[in-house]
Amino acid sequence: MNNLLANKNGLIFGALDENSIAWKVAEKCHQEGANLILTNAPIALRMGKIDVLSRKCKSEVIPADVTSLDDLENLFTKSKEIFDGKIDFILHSVGMSPNVRKNRNYGDLNYDWFLKTLDISGISFHKIMQVNEKLDSMNEWGSIVGLSYIAAQKTFPFYSDMAEAKSVLESVTRSYGYRLGKMKNIRVNTISQSPTKTTAGKGIKAFESFYKFADKMSPLGNASAEDCANYCVFLFSDLSRKITMQNLYHDGGFSNTGISEEIIDNFN
Ligand code: NAI
Repeated sequence: MNNLLANKNGLIFGALDENSIAWKVAEKCHQEGANLILTNAPIALRMGKIDVLSRKCKSEVIPADVTSLDDLENLFTKSKEIFDGKIDFILHSVGMSPNVRKNRNYGDLNYDWFLKTLDISGISFHKIMQVNEKLDSMNEWGSIVGLSYIAAQKTFPFYSDMAEAKSVLESVTRSYGYRLGKMKNIRVNTISQSPTKTTAGKGIKAFESFYKFADKMSPLGNASAEDCANYCVFLFSDLSRKITMQNLYHDGGFSNTGISEEIIDNFN
């Protein structure tokens, strides 16, 4: 432990169970000395195991559906009271597509669900930052991180309308990153993470095969949720103060690999 986040207050969205990327991030941030508040959708709080994490991290849990401005206002107002101060970092680790969940083909999308996908997984990043700005909830030099996937740049057929949601997420990162940088030196980035064995990950069709494919394609192998948590700690710490408006690949080299020997061997 290096106390990289000592005296920092962090808000973590999206810890559902011990496999969640947000769960690992919360554990690491706690180890590095941060004060935390955890949040998730009310239904996820009922079905998940967040109480275990909250005890471990000595942090309170405040329910919030990321699509609801009222919930977010309540969340940011209460966080300020609990911390008795402003927030230093935020993790947005939230994603859900009703079309993917219900196996709707990309050529047969339900458009109400498509809008829901965009709202939950992309627009919510803007909502969080807008409420945060209006309530002036964040300290100067704060850091905001969202989790993305390379399907925003290249097509992966099974990723369906989540690809569009990740494009929204990454675009909001640039636009709001500029605004918050100018206003308060706050940085905004996304981490484009390797396939990771979580509830959301396994919800994607043929996930196991794709997980193995990505692992063999990447010279360093897939980045795990723990690896991602370490990267988040760095991005929340004062060591990354001039990194902003970036989509940061955290994928063992997958994004820059054309083909690997292991994949070629599969065809011999
Ligand atoms: P997860 O299923 O553990 O986390 C997703 C979270 O989103 C859950 O905690 C869920 O309750 C929350 N959520 C869904 N709807 C919500 C709503 N309306 N309001 C508030 N919270 C809501 O899965 P994972 O993998 O940890 O996902 C975290 C992020 O990482 C997502 O953005 C996902 O797209 C991204 N990601 C995941 C990868 C993977 O292979 N698992 C790869 C690249 C990115």
